[in-house]
Amino acid sequence: MGFKMVVVALFIAVAIRIASSNSEGDALNEWKTKLMDPHEVLQSWDPTLFNPCTWYHVTCNSDNSVIRVDLGNAGLSGPLIPQLSHLVNMQYFMVFGNEISGTIPGELGNWKMLVSLGLQQNQLSGPIPASLGQLKSVRFMTLNSNKLSGTIPIEVLELVLWGNLQTLNVSDNFFQGRVHAGDPTGYAVTTITQDPKIGSA
Ligand SMILES: *[C@@H]1O[C@H](CO)[C@@H](O)[C@H](O)[C@H]1NC(C)=O
Repeated sequence: MGFKMVVVALFIAVAIRIASSNSEGDALNEWKTKLMDPHEVLQSWDPTLFNPCTWYHVTCNSDNSVIRVDLGNAGLSGPLIPQLSHLVNMQYFMVFGNEISGTIPGELGNWKMLVSLGLQQNQLSGPIPASLGQLKSVRFMTLNSNKLSGTIPIEVLELVLWGNLQTLNVSDNFFQGRVHAGDPTGYAVTTITQDPKIGSA
């Protein structure tokens, strides 16, 4: 391979890297445009920067890909958007204690690296998407104190039984079914408090 070829290959590699970094910043910026932010906690989210890694409340890995969003108790209102699923290396998505409303986008099931989904104490409504059952590495899913309804998808319960999900808190929502005192799965899940209606979802 000649020198020119190497230069061209490097250029393409760099271009791909830049494109992927920007797509993560674009997704976060798109979300920002949908949010009310009375305390201006998202002021540093400047979409003209190279990538979102210097933004407050955002953490990247060494490849400049976002792995954390920490926006607990930040006074935010507005929806979650499907484009957040473009943050393919997301591990910790912590937006508890806000006024986040609307439904949980099914696309968030694309977060293959996710460890913790902290959505508790918001105004989220509608069902838990069955696609969240694709979150094979998730260990904590705290959905308590929202307005979620329907039944808990068997796909999500299977994460407790066969996957890595250690804590699934769905208390204080509008789920159907009897309140189940104790642990319906027999595993270390102390916080499933609704009858999941296994098999009927
Ligand atoms: C689960 O959520 C409920 C309601 O918000 C809360 O009272 C309880 O402490 C939570 N359980 C755990 C183990 O965090």
